[in-house]
Amino acid sequence: MSAPTVNIAIIGGGLMGREVAAAIQRWPALIDHPVRPRLTAVCDINPDALDWFDEIDSVVTKTTDYADLLADDSIDVIYVAVRHDLHERIYTDVIRSGKSLLAEKPFGIDADAAQAVLAALAEHPEAFVRCSSEMPFFPGAQLAIDYVRSGALGTIIEARNSFLHSSDLDVNKPINWKRQTQFCGEAGVMNDLGMHTWHVPLRLGWVPESVFSVLQNIVEERPGPDGLAVPCDTWDNAVIHSWARHDGVRFPLTTETKRIDPGQKNTWEFEAIGLDGGVRFSTKNPKLVEVFTVQNIPGGGREQVWQQIDAGSQSVWPTVTGPNFESGFSDTILQMWAAFLAERHGSLGDRFGTVRPEEAARTHEIFRAAIRSHEEGRAVGL
Ligand SMILES: NC(=O)c1ccc[n+]([C@@H]2O[C@H](COP(=O)([O-])OP(=O)(O)OC[C@H]3O[C@@H](n4cnc5c(N)ncnc54)[C@H](O)[C@@H]3O)[C@@H](O)[C@H]2O)c1
Repeated sequence: MSAPTVNIAIIGGGLMGREVAAAIQRWPALIDHPVRPRLTAVCDINPDALDWFDEIDSVVTKTTDYADLLADDSIDVIYVAVRHDLHERIYTDVIRSGKSLLAEKPFGIDADAAQAVLAALAEHPEAFVRCSSEMPFFPGAQLAIDYVRSGALGTIIEARNSFLHSSDLDVNKPINWKRQTQFCGEAGVMNDLGMHTWHVPLRLGWVPESVFSVLQNIVEERPGPDGLAVPCDTWDNAVIHSWARHDGVRFPLTTETKRIDPGQKNTWEFEAIGLDGGVRFSTKNPKLVEVFTVQNIPGGGREQVWQQIDAGSQSVWPTVTGPNFESGFSDTILQMWAAFLAERHGSLGDRFGTVRPEEAARTHEIFRAAIRSHEEGRAVGL
């Protein structure tokens, strides 16, 4: 029997809307997935943004008003990729329509917006809702997560999860909505990149008990639409030092989100170190996973060793891709969607899943505490 079709619509045909539309076209790469998505509709307030979607034969509806999509009974799932100040209204409207939602991070512009989305969900439990975070779907990241879950760390010493950019190094780069608090939110770079650094820690049960943060606004003005300088009032870099627990042991957990980290382009890094073992992975070298052991060296003594593994192509959902081939950003988007739609179908099992609404809302509590910590120069409990 062929898998049932799930009709998908996109609200926001910008950078991420196009990325997701393209990823869904690669669905046949997945082996025995329980559903078959078809992108049938797209909405953007900018009619020019809709033209790109002419490339995709299955798209039958293009509109500038998302109410058209909510009223369309043929649509099952909506992916929303718009400015942060628009999340709360559009997410709650989608939930109230009874359709499923894959929401983009940061899941509302702040903690209050995230709570409003949770409240709408509580009224409409039939709406299946998850939040986007694709980087943990790199095969190397999955290997690192499984390593930690295996207990191989022993007594934990410390862990770190980072997301690093350098896209704002050029001080003449024009302002855009992601660099303005009114559209991006008070949490600034934490709103932009923080979900990427908290998805894995929270899923491993590493909920911070307290945070001490260091926030920087490095470039305070940028050229506006007419070339004149306008305020660029968001945090560029944020480091959060927190205390969390692994197997009951309290340990330092650090997350870093940086828009200005010279040399980095979308680098996601995870590292966890314990007395018995350690693991680290960075998308900078996307095949490489390193694991730590202490072992007998032939002809030598007992030594501390970082070993290297090539992760290959396989992630959460099996694909036809040769196991030794390389994986990249677009593959992680496909895997995230495979996990999202399998979980919606009830077929994900114990595989790694997309961010749950309560996890997404918790990141805002963490960011709020981080802002307070920075302002008051002290650790803040959660
Ligand atoms: N998961 C990731 O790796 C990742 C990467 C980048 C951005 N994002 C997130 O995706 C979201 C969108 O970011 P982007 O980079 O795609 O932004 P973008 O500015 O490239 O695209 C947003 C689009 O939304 C459209 N839009 C604005 N208001 C709308 C409305 N009311 N109805 C329909 N369309 C509307 C705009 O015209 C624009 O085309 C944000 O939440 C951002 O944080 C996620």
